[in-house]
Amino acid sequence: MLRRSPVLLALVTAGIGFAYVQSVEAVPAFARQYDLQCNVCHTRPPRLNSFGEQFHMMGFQIPSAARPGGLGESIKDKGLAQTILDTLAFRMEGGIFESTKSPHDTESRFVPPEEFTLFVTRPLLPDLSFFVEIEAEPNAVVFEDGRFVTKGEVGLGKEAFFMANLGQVLGLIGAPTMQMGNQTMVGRHGGFNMHGPMLMAGKIDPSTNFSYPTNRQLIAATETEVKAGEVERFPVVPYAFTSKFFGLFKDRDEAEPQLVTDQVMYNTPGAPGADFHAMLNNFLIDHPQVIQLGFLRENEGWNAYAAWRVDFGERDQSAFSVSALINWGFGVAWAPDPTDHDRPSDRRIDRLRYGVAANARWKGLDVYGALIRDQVFDLPSGLGGEFDRTATGLTLALDYLAHEQVMLSTRFDQLWAGGLRDEKQDGSVFSLQVKYFLWQNIAFFARDSVNLRSTVEHNPLREWRNQVVLGIDWDF
Ligand code: HEC
Repeated sequence: MLRRSPVLLALVTAGIGFAYVQSVEAVPAFARQYDLQCNVCHTRPPRLNSFGEQFHMMGFQIPSAARPGGLGESIKDKGLAQTILDTLAFRMEGGIFESTKSPHDTESRFVPPEEFTLFVTRPLLPDLSFFVEIEAEPNAVVFEDGRFVTKGEVGLGKEAFFMANLGQVLGLIGAPTMQMGNQTMVGRHGGFNMHGPMLMAGKIDPSTNFSYPTNRQLIAATETEVKAGEVERFPVVPYAFTSKFFGLFKDRDEAEPQLVTDQVMYNTPGAPGADFHAMLNNFLIDHPQVIQLGFLRENEGWNAYAAWRVDFGERDQSAFSVSALINWGFGVAWAPDPTDHDRPSDRRIDRLRYGVAANARWKGLDVYGALIRDQVFDLPSGLGGEFDRTATGLTLALDYLAHEQVMLSTRFDQLWAGGLRDEKQDGSVFSLQVKYFLWQNIAFFARDSVNLRSTVEHNPLREWRNQVVLGIDWDF
């Protein structure tokens, strides 16, 4: 961090200069708070560039621009109304038109937007900030009275947390600390130093600091299709992060299935938990590292995880990072009953997840991928050879900014499924998307996903050939 601080400062200065020259259009919360254009932090929203990642890791703070007086000072400078307005951002995402080709028919229809999100976020003090999403989903898939149905849902969104820099606490118990742009750092100039540990607690997505973050993808998930109370088709999502096992349940009383494509454990889009992460410099190796430890609730159990990330050679417009993850889930799902696979047994299973991810950015190219393996333990002995205990997912994504206004994205998802042998199928999907940015904050997209394998009837992973979605992504 410190070694890179000149880069950071230059970025901030350049960003501020840029913002004054260009008239700032309708911009979400962070852009308004710091008077910055979106592309100071984003290659294109929601992907972050190196500066945006730093900004995120430091708890939504730009060190040199942090207000020592925090929220109070902002209200004094900008007024209450402006401060509140700067704290809010709004996002609307979703399809306009959708067409799916299955073995027997082609279904085309106009669709309403999938998701409206109100973001409430800002630094309160140089060492404390918060981020809350309030979400409305007109067509959410929910499980009620033993059936899957779609219905309108409004409530707390995927993420709602606060982030606090605990560096000062380490200082109080004797660690050497220093101040940098109103932020507390642990360590010494030139020697070992650390930013953090940061505590992120509430409803969190811990993979936000991973080389492949679950939440920041240009190709969004498609819709889950339900029919007659059952899931007819799973969504197309990055298979690396999913549950991967056919036949598991989320709970025992309601017997809600854990869908094969649910994004779980460390790679959840958001779950209650506490995450500690710190950025280390001059520690054992010559590259900045991020160390992350945390706990997450999941269904009726909980997860403990550790992740490690190394950032290599950040220069000009290039960056490269690799991450490794190990995650143990204690009683996070229920195994199926050996005599009736449609019911959960009385056994909660443990789940081990481990894997790697990498991200390389160079000029307009942004390539990221993850390979993640899962293994389940404590199955009822009666299941014997009927249940495959291991599963693996691979996801590779490539975004290319072909033109200021055009982002081309492709993604390949491979699932080597686990779970009930008489139900499970592997999946391979290729997706291609063109996103046209009318302005920095309004984009239209057209995507096509292709099932690269044969179709399998009555299997929600494979009962389709091709899916086209036209949609809009609007941020304000
Ligand atoms: C100072 C840095 C900064 C600026 C400027 C900025 N953003 Fe962001 N933005 C972030 C960070 C950090 C996140 C990640 C939040 C997360 O992953 O939890 C984010 C997330 C987002 C997301 C994803 C939110 C979600 O979770 O669904 C969108 C969309 C977005 N920004 C749009 C924009 C647009 C549009 C602009 C300009 C008008 C902009 N941002 C300007 C830092 C910034």
